[in-house]
Parts: sequence; C-alpha cells; structure tokens
Amino acid sequence: MLPTSDQPIGIFDSGIGGLTVANAIHHALPNEQLIYFGDTVHLPYGDKSADAIRYYSLKISKFLLEQHCKMIIIACNSASSAAYDMLLDFFEGKALFVNVVDPLVQAVISHNYQNVGVIATKATINSSIYKNKIKTINQKVRVNQLATPLLAPMIEEGFYRGSISKSVIENYLSHPDLKDIDALLLACTHYPLIRDEINTFYGGKIDILDSTDVVREDVISILQKENMLSPKRKKEDQFYVSDYTTSFEETARNFYGEDIRLEAMHIWT
Ligand code: DGL
Repeated sequence: MLPTSDQPIGIFDSGIGGLTVANAIHHALPNEQLIYFGDTVHLPYGDKSADAIRYYSLKISKFLLEQHCKMIIIACNSASSAAYDMLLDFFEGKALFVNVVDPLVQAVISHNYQNVGVIATKATINSSIYKNKIKTINQKVRVNQLATPLLAPMIEEGFYRGSISKSVIENYLSHPDLKDIDALLLACTHYPLIRDEINTFYGGKIDILDSTDVVREDVISILQKENMLSPKRKKEDQFYVSDYTTSFEETARNFYGEDIRLEAMHIWT
C-alpha cells in the first residue's frame, strides 16, 4: 500500500551522527513525527564492507517500514553510498527514500566550485561516490578525497572542541591532497559537530558544506512535490538504538541539541 502524509519519517545512521540531520528536519517540519534508529551495535559503518552495510540498511529499513514510515532518510554517507540503490529497488513503492549524498553533490554543482575536497569514512571514500557523481555532471571539477576514519569515533566518544580534536583535525586537513581547495565537503553526518573547528583551521577562507541544510531542503521539496507533508503531528518523536548505554544518551543530547531519551530496540536478536 502507498504511504500517506500522516505517517512518520524514519531516519537512520550507524549511531548518533544522523541526529544532526534529524534535528534540522525536526525544526523545519514541526508537524512531522520522526522515528530515529541508530545502529550502535554495528558502529562504525565506515570500517565495514559494502555488503555488511547493505545488510544492516536492509534490516533497519524493514524495521522502519514496520513502523509505517512514509519516508526513510539514510542519514549516513557510508550507508547512502553502499545501500541507497539497493533499498530503492528492494522497497519500491513502499516509502520514499532519501540519501545524503545527492543533495551535497547538487550543492557543489550549483555553487560552481572547481576544486573541492571530500572528507569521509573509508567506506564512503572507497566507494568514490562523490567523485563519480560530481564528475558525471561536470567533468572539469577536481575532486580530492581523503578518508578520515578517526573523526567519527572521536566525535561519537565526545572528543570535540578540545585539544585532541584540534590535533586530529589539523593532522588530517594538512594532507597535501587538500591543498588549494575552494570548498570542503563534510561527507559524514558526524562532522557538523566539528564544523567550527574545521572552519577555524581554514581561517574562514574556504566554504565548508555539510549535509544538514541541503538534506533538509531536499526532504521538504520531495514531501511538497509528493503532496506528503503532514498536516498535524500525531505522536512524539522516537529515538531508538540497537545497543543502549547512558553515556551514549548523553552524547546523543549534544548531537540533537535538546533533551532526548533513547530507547533500546533489539532488532538483531
Ligand atoms: N555517520 C556515518 C556517515 O555519515 C559515519 C559513521 C560511521 O562510520 O559509522 O558516514
């Protein structure tokens, strides 16, 4: 059966990084009920094989569809790279699927950048998804990719806006491949939390783009086009994780910027 406008929006990530996207949507679309799923059992996705990430994404999407979600936002670049096409095929007609890669690619094209850097997990960089998609639209854009695998676990553990994150960020961004870029894509949904530190590293001289604003705009325009905007919120938002710890809940609050409660949802047992 086709979904209807009053059904919730599902959002998933390997952990709590996707909460940056969820929060942007929550503020822009207060009538929508959100159901968030962080797969903390398998975090980080960035070090997993594409097959493993596809399997996790399939199972989580199935769970979100069982919650009657009308739209599923893959708020993780690693999962968007590995699993988006498969999810579209597998669940055709059951829900609207949104990935976090295409809106950032479109932003690069519309700003007409000529030399962009991409930092992301190993899974996203190894897929070359940003390079391939940008170059398919404009062959002339130079795309310099760098895997920055320490960043997501570092942020997830609460190490940001401090001396540890400063030195890890400086170490990565000093890489010769990222010299002379005119924009840097933060191609991981954890990275908005270190956006200010990255901006400080560059002294505000280049543009820094992350998924939150562009994905929010993409979601709004898809829901408008499909006539699926909810007229009224029916229930409170729900935040599930596949493995619950209290420290995790505290970090989740920092990510979301509001007091939220996480609930354990054991979809793997
Ligand atoms: N938030 C995920 C992404 O956007 C990465 C974190 C992870 O490696 O699990 O790629």
